[in-house]
Amino acid sequence: MNDPTRIEICPTWVVEQTFDNPEYYRQQLLDLEYRETRTHYMSLNSNVLDLIFMSDLKEIITDTLNYLIEKLDKDAESDAVGFRFLQSWVNRYTEGQSAPFHTHSNSQFSGVCFFDDDSPLIFHRKDPWYDDKLPITVIGNSSSPNTVFRKHNNYSHESKAGSIVIFPSTMMHSTVPAKGDRMSLAFNTFLTGDFCEDKTFARIQL
Ligand SMILES: [Fe+2]
Repeated sequence: MNDPTRIEICPTWVVEQTFDNPEYYRQQLLDLEYRETRTHYMSLNSNVLDLIFMSDLKEIITDTLNYLIEKLDKDAESDAVGFRFLQSWVNRYTEGQSAPFHTHSNSQFSGVCFFDDDSPLIFHRKDPWYDDKLPITVIGNSSSPNTVFRKHNNYSHESKAGSIVIFPSTMMHSTVPAKGDRMSLAFNTFLTGDFCEDKTFARIQL
């Protein structure tokens, strides 16, 4: 018998973009005030993209999101669809620190701008083949990476200085421990516009 071929089905997508001079932003952002959380350091400012020195980067993100909404997003049927930024904040990790599995609530598209080459960001989608009620998985150690990787389809996105990744906010993600000091900027957004105009019950104006 030939080895069967594994075909990945029902994929989702993320969008990658680049920006110049990550070191410039990194230096400026270091001057912000930070608070320590259980896992890392977060800027006190939650509207970092509104700072004057962030304007060029904010414009790149804005253009990329508009492209995404216009060309790629299934919900953007009308020209009137746009988006607004919600929170934008800086995350700093020291060696060994990492972000646990999480999603971003009350947001539609989220993104991360990387200022360092470091450990990757991992996206997780629940694997529909996995069933934790089957005995074969009960004996597995749930904290083992093998079990995690059985439960989820994973995509490892390289953390590269000067790159931006934008993804659906409901998609689970995490990072592996930082190799050194790592800084990134995260942001949340929500679509704006008039949706399902012709279907009165489902119509929503945002
Ligand atoms: Fe996140």
